[in-house]
Amino acid sequence: MQMQRNQSQDWWRTSTVYQVYPKSFNDTTGSGTGDIRGLTEKLDYIKGLGIDIVWLQPVYVSPQNDNGYDVADYYNIDPAYGTMEDFDELVHELKKRNMHLMIDIVVNHSSTEHHWFKEARSSRDNPYRDYYIWKDPAEDGGPPNNWQSKFGGPAWQFDEGTGQYFLTLFDKTQADLNWENEKVRQEVVDLLTFWAKKGVDGFRMDVINLISKDQCFPNDDGSIPPGDGRKFYTDGPRVHEYVKELNEKVFRPYNIITVGEMSSTTLAHCIRYSNPEEHEFSMTFNFHHLKVDYPNGQKWELKPYDFEELKTVLSDWQIGMQEGGGWNALFWNNHDQPRALTRFTDDDEYRIESAKLLATTLHGLQGTPYVYQGEEIGMPDPKWKDISEFRDIESRNMYDILLKRGKTPEEAAHIVSVRSRDNSRLPMLWDDSDQAGFTSGTPWIKIDERYPHINAKAQVEDDDSIYHHYRKLIELRKELPVLIDGKYIRLDESHPQIYAYARINEEESIVVISNFSKEEATFELPEWFSVGLSRASRVKLLIGNTDEEPVLSKRMNIQPYGSYMWLIKNS
Ligand code: GLC
Repeated sequence: MQMQRNQSQDWWRTSTVYQVYPKSFNDTTGSGTGDIRGLTEKLDYIKGLGIDIVWLQPVYVSPQNDNGYDVADYYNIDPAYGTMEDFDELVHELKKRNMHLMIDIVVNHSSTEHHWFKEARSSRDNPYRDYYIWKDPAEDGGPPNNWQSKFGGPAWQFDEGTGQYFLTLFDKTQADLNWENEKVRQEVVDLLTFWAKKGVDGFRMDVINLISKDQCFPNDDGSIPPGDGRKFYTDGPRVHEYVKELNEKVFRPYNIITVGEMSSTTLAHCIRYSNPEEHEFSMTFNFHHLKVDYPNGQKWELKPYDFEELKTVLSDWQIGMQEGGGWNALFWNNHDQPRALTRFTDDDEYRIESAKLLATTLHGLQGTPYVYQGEEIGMPDPKWKDISEFRDIESRNMYDILLKRGKTPEEAAHIVSVRSRDNSRLPMLWDDSDQAGFTSGTPWIKIDERYPHINAKAQVEDDDSIYHHYRKLIELRKELPVLIDGKYIRLDESHPQIYAYARINEEESIVVISNFSKEEATFELPEWFSVGLSRASRVKLLIGNTDEEPVLSKRMNIQPYGSYMWLIKNS
């Protein structure tokens, strides 16, 4: 009961968040990279979708080795993105439209260009030394343990000047902060407070479940795959304590919406992170549904995705979070993932149906949906021609590592083209003018050449477009409480083509049926459900993606990539 009361007070549970990758969103200066004013210029477009929260990815001063996730100054805007005045104007323009700003907070690590790190590396006695994680070399002079960086290679970098290694779980220029140090935690509280006072309403907390490391820093014996050390710092010993501290000192006093990005996490931890009674985050991202095409958990190997596993993972998280009182951040896409449209559906012949199917399937689930720029117009992965087209540090590192592992250049390039984070980082396709309306200069990364027929302008003008499909789904979430509180029940039993589920509360139910294949499918509702359906007072198709308007019935034929949502009023 307590939880239900809390949930209805949380306005953001009916919201949809729009994710902006500023570098690729809209360039107003001709520099070839997007900027803050470019976002401000497009707020009406975003508002037109019915969005009320915009997540802006890092625009702080940064050497941009990891596109801003390597922060060199948490209090200033990188000139590549504009100025603090531009930022203030963005906040102001959002508020005018009754929209909210969520910013990205990257505090598991800072850039090695940050002045804290420069001080820390200057001598072992420097007061900032303990802001980072330093260890003596192992006996053979090598790294202190066998932990691996998420971007490939050892997780430790040797500092010649002071003769010790420092920890870097991501790029070698992203040094992990030492959260055991109270001063570091105070710095984080201070910087969060600074942005909260500027009128920011939300924080997306980058890889926040990695901040507490096992202080013994043990070697990973490889008994649990992938054996790269992650079990010693993922959802680590003091993480909940640290998050509670941030909640008490900043999130609660400033009424901030928070989403934690949880790397390789568990359901049990995500319940703790996001159940309101725990006073930690509003909601969590997890990535298990986006690993169903990783053979044995290996991202840099390929296999066709396992549809049954995808449905099982989504369902387990729906049921588990619901039972535990947690709250999911729902998403198919972000700046770190290839586009789901290419990955799970047909991005060519059935591109429009597929994009709508993914949208309907996700927006019917419990949680707060996130739409990543370009998703709402059905942007697919690009066609890569050459390895030199990639910009992402992880993709470049992994190409070299794959070659070292014995792949041919063709094989390595193919794997990178399927897995690269750059797949979703191409500029937004605004219209059919030069460079898709993104820039008047030379874009920092290539532009998808399909912009004459895939672009935002054309879709805003076409009532039947993917954009308007998203708009309707976003509106439905505001209108129908069952989409927020309805109990999730899966309706298909291992069907090879269909994913079907219901959301049920006392007054009404929702049914979503989606055919994830290019063959027509036959689907039968479970007996118990059809009995209830025959007693319902009214059944209405809310949204679909084909010309036909199928009647919800015990046995149905579902068209290729057909996807529908019905509302059932209980008598
Ligand atoms: C998160 C970000 C990703 C970044 C990494 C390191 O996973 O989404 O883009 O590279 O953290 O900060």
